[in-house]
Amino acid sequence: MDLLATKPLSRIAAESEGGAHSLKRTLGPASLVALGIGAIIGAGLFSLTGIAAAEHAGPAIALSFVLAAIGCALAGFCYSEFATMIPIAGSAYTYAYATMGEFIAWVIGWDLVLEYAVGAATVSISWSAYVVSLLHDIGINLPPYLVASPWQPVQLPSGELVHGLVNLPAVFIIVVISLLLMIGIKESANVNAAVVVIKVAVVLVFIGVGIWFVKGSNYTPFIPENTGKFGEFGWSGVLRAAGVIFFAYIGFDAVSTAAQEAKNPQKDMPIGILGSLAICTVLYVAFSLVMTGLAHYTEFKGAAAPVAVAIAYTPYQWLQPLVKLAIIAGFTSVILVMLLGQSRVFFSMSRDGLLPKIFSDIHPRYRTPWRSNLLFMVFVSLFSAFAPISMVGHMTSIGTLFAFVIVCAGILVLRRTQPDAPRPFRTPLVPVVPVLGIAVNAALMYGLGWENWMRLLVWLVIGLCIYFGYSRHHSLLRRDLEQARR
Ligand code: ALA
Repeated sequence: MDLLATKPLSRIAAESEGGAHSLKRTLGPASLVALGIGAIIGAGLFSLTGIAAAEHAGPAIALSFVLAAIGCALAGFCYSEFATMIPIAGSAYTYAYATMGEFIAWVIGWDLVLEYAVGAATVSISWSAYVVSLLHDIGINLPPYLVASPWQPVQLPSGELVHGLVNLPAVFIIVVISLLLMIGIKESANVNAAVVVIKVAVVLVFIGVGIWFVKGSNYTPFIPENTGKFGEFGWSGVLRAAGVIFFAYIGFDAVSTAAQEAKNPQKDMPIGILGSLAICTVLYVAFSLVMTGLAHYTEFKGAAAPVAVAIAYTPYQWLQPLVKLAIIAGFTSVILVMLLGQSRVFFSMSRDGLLPKIFSDIHPRYRTPWRSNLLFMVFVSLFSAFAPISMVGHMTSIGTLFAFVIVCAGILVLRRTQPDAPRPFRTPLVPVVPVLGIAVNAALMYGLGWENWMRLLVWLVIGLCIYFGYSRHHSLLRRDLEQARR
């Protein structure tokens, strides 16, 4: 069955050694942890926490953060095993190609568009909200219909609610970052480290300042009673909120895409993946407790910049613009990493023949896959301009969770098919950890509700049409297998 043809580990390793495409090994453990944190802390924390608390979990959003972290950690172990065994770029797509065959690899590569491209759209919408809010603070008010999608209500200074038309600031940041990627901005570990320091500092300042103004009464009831509908408060609300804020953890898997640039991937990949996840979990739980302690969770309803709502309960109003500025800078790096990750995955798929060459065409001067960047600029901009943040955020989450489920399953497969391959890092307690990883991440997917399942399904069906209509006939691996048979 050719659908199950796997790409041998030796072939993957040989391709990755290729001259012009070999990357420099410069990243040590600290840089890898920083890279992870740089990709992780973003819109999930600074925007979705408020929405998830207001609509699903109340103060128990802190529990949702713990639950989502457990799902991520289980998947993180599996990612670590893969990243040390197959330490090259391409991440989950490459792992699937090596273990479960071309078809599943295609499904996951296609699915990663939801994580990276749609994820970038989500963060850009959040970016826009914070920019609009910052401009408002300094007396500049952009017309409401130009800063929100048609589904997003915007509050006028008079208090009146109107609907938007197009989210131009979100499109603006996508275009700027795509252009930067096209002309080949070097991902500099130093710039990333600076942004990480800023982001972590904002979170720590928020916690350190806010904790003194927390009102105990905001925590009762800690788990608001379920309204009778699945996902609206109560324990089902905690589960649903975990699915929503799961978005906040996305990015630790991006560390695995840097495997080819790590000095000592065998030792440092697990540190980068699991270390960044652990640090962010502690920060997130503390952050969400302070946030829902400062303002009652109901006040975050519809608040695109919930941190501002919470800070309003402290006497330190001068913090507002500083925090917003830092958040905006932080979002920018997340968008960059996501758009970059997207072009890397499609680059690998295109080099394997599964996608047209346009995705791996390199600009003669800038040496970047600029056409791919350009196409994604248009695709992502459409989402940024016209989609509501909760929709794109949920699509990103369900897509990423699905990738996690497949990666966990991949470990089970690989242990069976290649039990003796060297494994510098071994997922502990196999099969318990991967099986639990599948269960918890599937539960989080379940929590996201049927609309998002439908969106995922539609997306995958489109992918299947492309696979059977194009990729299958152009696959280089398949071509080689056929030639070998003749
Ligand atoms: N975890 C990243 C964020 O929250 C994607 O923005």
